[in-house]
Amino acid sequence: MPKRYTITAALPYTNGPIHIGHLAGVYVPADIYSRYLRLTGNDVAFICGSDEHGVPITIKAKKEGVTPQDIVDKYHAIIKQSFEDFGISFDNYSRTSAKIHHETASEFFKTLYDKNEFVEEVSEQLYDEEANQFLADRFVIGTCPKCGYEEAYGDQCENCGTSHNATDLINPKSAITGNTPTLKETKHWFLPLNKHEEFLREWILKGHKKDWKPNVYGQVKSWIDDGLRPRAVTRDLDWGIPVPVEGGEGKVLYVWFDAPIGYISATKEWAERVGKNWEDYWKNEDTKLVHFIGKDNIVFHCIIFPSMLKAEGSYILPDNVPANEFLNLEGNKLSTSKNWAVWLPEYLEDFPNQQDILRYALTANAPETKDNDFTWKDFQARNNNELVAIFGNFINRVAVLTNKYYNGEIPQPAEFKAIDEETLAAVKAYPAVIASSIERYRFREGSQELMNLARLGNKYLADEEPWKTIKTDEERTKTVMFVALQIASALAVLSEPFLPFTSNKLKSILNHAELDSELIWEDISTKDVLLPAGHSIQSGKPELLFSKIEDETIQKQLDKLEASKKANEAANKKVEPQKDEITFDDFTKLDLRVGTILEAEKMPKTKKLLVLKVDTGIDTRTIVSGIAESFSPEEVIGKRVTVLVNLAPRKLRGVESQGMILMTEDESGNLVFVNPNIEGVANGLKIS
Ligand code: 2FM
Ligand code: ZN
Repeated sequence: MPKRYTITAALPYTNGPIHIGHLAGVYVPADIYSRYLRLTGNDVAFICGSDEHGVPITIKAKKEGVTPQDIVDKYHAIIKQSFEDFGISFDNYSRTSAKIHHETASEFFKTLYDKNEFVEEVSEQLYDEEANQFLADRFVIGTCPKCGYEEAYGDQCENCGTSHNATDLINPKSAITGNTPTLKETKHWFLPLNKHEEFLREWILKGHKKDWKPNVYGQVKSWIDDGLRPRAVTRDLDWGIPVPVEGGEGKVLYVWFDAPIGYISATKEWAERVGKNWEDYWKNEDTKLVHFIGKDNIVFHCIIFPSMLKAEGSYILPDNVPANEFLNLEGNKLSTSKNWAVWLPEYLEDFPNQQDILRYALTANAPETKDNDFTWKDFQARNNNELVAIFGNFINRVAVLTNKYYNGEIPQPAEFKAIDEETLAAVKAYPAVIASSIERYRFREGSQELMNLARLGNKYLADEEPWKTIKTDEERTKTVMFVALQIASALAVLSEPFLPFTSNKLKSILNHAELDSELIWEDISTKDVLLPAGHSIQSGKPELLFSKIEDETIQKQLDKLEASKKANEAANKKVEPQKDEITFDDFTKLDLRVGTILEAEKMPKTKKLLVLKVDTGIDTRTIVSGIAESFSPEEVIGKRVTVLVNLAPRKLRGVESQGMILMTEDESGNLVFVNPNIEGVANGLKIS
């Protein structure tokens, strides 16, 4: 029975491009699910768009000296392009700055207002006197009252996921000036979550929601058990959707009030475009609503948005919210500000047309039940050992042999042996097996089952050896190749949700377009023949589906990350405060000269000290320098250096040191010589 589905993927903030964490956590799983449902004949609205309001955007605009509109226009275009590039098959990718969204969100607010679903309250809110503005959401940072994390935002702690009011933060600080905020009275509208507690308890805890992922169910249960409180849904900001009721002048809707309504407005926009009725997708109990999100969005999708929908009264509630955990990168948390990420536009520059490798690596290692780590080595192994060695190798052998033996025409099989029957029966079981994984939101498992089908094909060829039987038993070879071609065809169809680009290529290698009707998911288990004898596949040398990734390619990516780590460390390095002022006379007392190290040896029984002979231009003298942990004696001989020559001599381990070599540190904390670095400068020249 075809069903109707509304599938949403979290609207990304438009304050930067998107990275692999976003792809793995939300967009690839949502896309696999949507593609699978379409392939199995369901009516699907797969909805997303840019989240263009909220404080992070205004902060970014301020930093760059441009308007928030400039920022959202720029990143909306970049993000939309990345989704298209990676084959994320949204039916509509909208944006919350769209007129239809402003209207829909305003109307939604007004409906709740008219129904007295808000509590209007004048209360004291955090205020930055210097910046002359109220501090909401990411404009304020402080200690989370629940878990003690010291960098929690005003509306949410990203460490424990809890959502709170800014005034709950311990030791709050303004993100604009760093000042401690004062309190100032202002009026806001609050959604009384406490009023919806009973409904949420019934709906999630006592209802059928036990089939939700344990991480989602557990978090929601703990929040409800802790007791829910009213949450302000308006803000004193100038970037957002104006509060559409009396007294709302100068205020906007809280970004987390308007963003999820973005799912509704994007559906409306799409329905208008394709001539459908949007209400079927949001107000019909037969529709299954599924929200794909990352774990930091759970509270908004499982508590706040359902409470809003319930308060409005005419909407369906989500059937499931399969939130993922976080993806780390090479052992560290992905971070936009630290540039610790693999950005999608950059990935495509380095790996053009290789979207499916990333889709596969991220799915096979998806953070479904716990945080997971993306490593470039794993990416390489997934490609080389699975996509190339199993999937690609099988398809290549089938296509090459079919062209070589039969000029590309599917041969008429002879008698089927037990192994052939068993193999064909095993293929028929795959649609249900993969479907069951996808329907339970176990996309990792699904991707491995798909690879098992390719393994089955490889093993079948390896056991039946058509390249040997061709010399002894032509009829047997025809049967084996016929069976192998059926497996290849099944792979072309069943891989579509996971590897859409590969599926397309494979369909053209196998000439699926020339079949009487397009093969769909259930055909793989119901049809005895997918590619009939006499059907021709693409002639010539088949295009390789995947190719091996060499170690150097992976090393380049690791080097890129290392460089970004170093740049970040350098940027964060605390510069020591300036020392007390000195007079010009004090300065002229320093006698700094250009010199050259002539000899160097380790000071016996010490780790740090080198005994140097230095040509200062005035004389050759002994200087003891604490650089032995950074340089070997051989490395420093011949180095041009800056020497403080009139430092009073002092004895170090019995050796008199007659001056000092000037050193500093590079961005990684390694010692480097303060080197005059000028060709032709003679020793003894003064530095002043
Ligand atoms: O966390 C985020 O990136 C948010 N912009 C997600 C919004 S999801 C939805 F409700 F719109
Ligand atoms: Zn916390």
